Amino acid sequence: MSSYHDQQPTVFVLDFGAQYAQLIARRVREARVYSEIVPFDISVEEVTRRAPAALILSGGPASVYADGAPHMDPRVLALGIPVLGFCYGIQEMALHLGGEIPKTDVGEYGFAELEVLGGGGELLVGVTERSQCWMSHRDSVGTAPAGFAVTARTATTAIAAMEDPARRLYATQFHPEVAHTEFGQRIIERFLHEIACIPPMWTMVNIIDETVDLIRERVGTDRVICGLSGGVDSSVVAAILHRAIGDQLTCVFVDHGMMRLDEGAQVIHTFRDHFHIDLIHVDAEKRYLDLLAGVTDPERKRHIIGEEFWKLFFEEAEKLEGVRWLAQGTLYPDVIESGNKTAAKIKSHHNLIPFPPGVHFDLIEPLKALFKDEVRAVGAELGLPDEIVHRQPFPGPGLAVRIIGEITHGKLELLRKADAIVREEIGAWDTERSVWQYFAVLPDIRSVGVMGDERTYGHPIIIRAVASADAMTADWARLPHDLLAKMSNRIINEVEGINRVAYDITSKPPGTIEWE
Ligand code: XMP
Repeated sequence: MSSYHDQQPTVFVLDFGAQYAQLIARRVREARVYSEIVPFDISVEEVTRRAPAALILSGGPASVYADGAPHMDPRVLALGIPVLGFCYGIQEMALHLGGEIPKTDVGEYGFAELEVLGGGGELLVGVTERSQCWMSHRDSVGTAPAGFAVTARTATTAIAAMEDPARRLYATQFHPEVAHTEFGQRIIERFLHEIACIPPMWTMVNIIDETVDLIRERVGTDRVICGLSGGVDSSVVAAILHRAIGDQLTCVFVDHGMMRLDEGAQVIHTFRDHFHIDLIHVDAEKRYLDLLAGVTDPERKRHIIGEEFWKLFFEEAEKLEGVRWLAQGTLYPDVIESGNKTAAKIKSHHNLIPFPPGVHFDLIEPLKALFKDEVRAVGAELGLPDEIVHRQPFPGPGLAVRIIGEITHGKLELLRKADAIVREEIGAWDTERSVWQYFAVLPDIRSVGVMGDERTYGHPIIIRAVASADAMTADWARLPHDLLAKMSNRIINEVEGINRVAYDITSKPPGTIEWE
């Protein structure tokens, strides 16, 4: 079966091994063109077969001369498909087409002033004569291949951009995909829309219409089941499926009792009362707390919660007749990352815990080609409320990974109250949504304090608030002292049992965002 993006002109981003490929793919989508990340060594036959509308070569950590450095099939450059190379990509182009890349030992990292030469050729149209760009390289091209014109330089890089319009080849040593490059998005759009002549037709309305048609065609009159957690991804999956197949959809909301304050009620209200979706609410707090009694190891907690989720979910599915399909909120970054076999496992993510033996469903994954910001835009377009569309990431195991040590009903209640204060206060201050995620953590320690004239021996609450673009790395948010003071006061006064508040000032790495 074809999928909705098959009908779109596609840009391939050849991944030379840096974290930049994902960012490039996102920037292309922002220019409203569909993009996919492909391996750097994709064969010329595969490229010919899939006929992408353009190619972008990503940056990469290696030197083109290093042993084992990634190299593309040079024949791809001769297909007549427009190609744009960034950083390692410009060097790859130069290497294969007869340019020179001397070993200079003079790298360039961070901001640089870009000077456009000779009007900027075709690619740099509209870039001012001097602007800011972002560099991150050691080697650079010394002599451009025959046929190429040099269109920009910086103080240390003589060839910061080059192009051969006759062969439709363009490249920059700097990184246009990074926000610090002043005209970066403009350069990408110029390449896509005007040089490669790809119309900006990747829109959310389009995606929704096409996805709805495809789901209908695939599912026919079968029943579909969907696990709903209240998070953005599963909510958008539920809403899009409901639009496609209405009553053939049943959602199962497994409430493990480790949700935040009022969260369970909100999920039920949105989906049952607002969307009129057939929703089964499984109140499983007791079952979970029994299973988790005495468990303190973070990975054990994650496994117990993930496995029990599937068990409960399948118990419900069995009660329904003729369910063949399971809908899941897999996103494009999950697809990219599952291809990455070398990454070390830090935490077992809830949603990736395998099905128990004997269980089989056919999967529908309508968000598989989308990035998170696109999923949010689809959600807004489908009429999901703002609180869901802009909900912060919340781990599948919920508050369980924010209570260090054993989980009890009492600790959950305590943490829920403190967390509600943190969310209310930072939420009111952060109207621009500059903080990626903020919450409270309850550690497994107690300390001595004094309230009134009385000695107290209570728990501390740790406030965690981080700035991040994608949760892969993060920095602790520089919250104003007054805001920290207000939260501390409120938590100690309003949450009985808490006598101390601390602020976590650890970035990721070396910390992680969650405590477990
Ligand atoms: P860490 O703690 O690894 O978290 O820095 C990175 C991001 O992932 C979220 N997170 C999860 N999300 N299932 C999820 O869907 C999980 O099991 C899970 N654990 C952590 C976390 O909140 C942060 O945004």
